[in-house]
Amino acid sequence: MFAATAIKSTDKKTFYRELSGQLEALLAGESDPVANAANMSALIFEQVPDLNWAGFYFLRSPQELVLGPFQGTPACVRIAVGRGVCGTAVARRATQRVEDVHSFAGHIACDSASRSELVVPLLRAGEIFGVLDLDSPMPGRFDAEDQDGIELLAAIYIAASAPIIPGAQA
Ligand code: SME
Repeated sequence: MFAATAIKSTDKKTFYRELSGQLEALLAGESDPVANAANMSALIFEQVPDLNWAGFYFLRSPQELVLGPFQGTPACVRIAVGRGVCGTAVARRATQRVEDVHSFAGHIACDSASRSELVVPLLRAGEIFGVLDLDSPMPGRFDAEDQDGIELLAAIYIAASAPIIPGAQA
């Protein structure tokens, strides 16, 4: 059984290095993309301070993200590409780090407690297949070091997991 030990480091670089090691151990020997997304959401939600939501959306068609495994309050199921922070990350093929979701035009409020958000697109062979989404009740919760750290975790997930089949239901 995997037991995550609390990470005490206050230095973010060290924190994410330790969390990456825990994620690699958690995903070792398993390639199911849904199981890995579920365990990764749980690990992030348990270890990263000040989150109210952490999870995945997967592209089920070229136009639409569909909710995947997550931790937090129940969330919007379908997000069109180009809409909200998640759909914008897909459309722009770039991480979206939003300091204050209230000033992001088109932000989709799944949990009214959310004040800042970090969305990392997931790519395999140059194709986006989903996003990793973190929400915080604190404005400006995510800085460039958080972005680097979460992008590293996303890369570990992609390397460890088999492809999600577009159009198939998880
Ligand atoms: N806020 C996101 C929607 C997903 S929830 O935060 C879980 C968005 O604007 O795309």
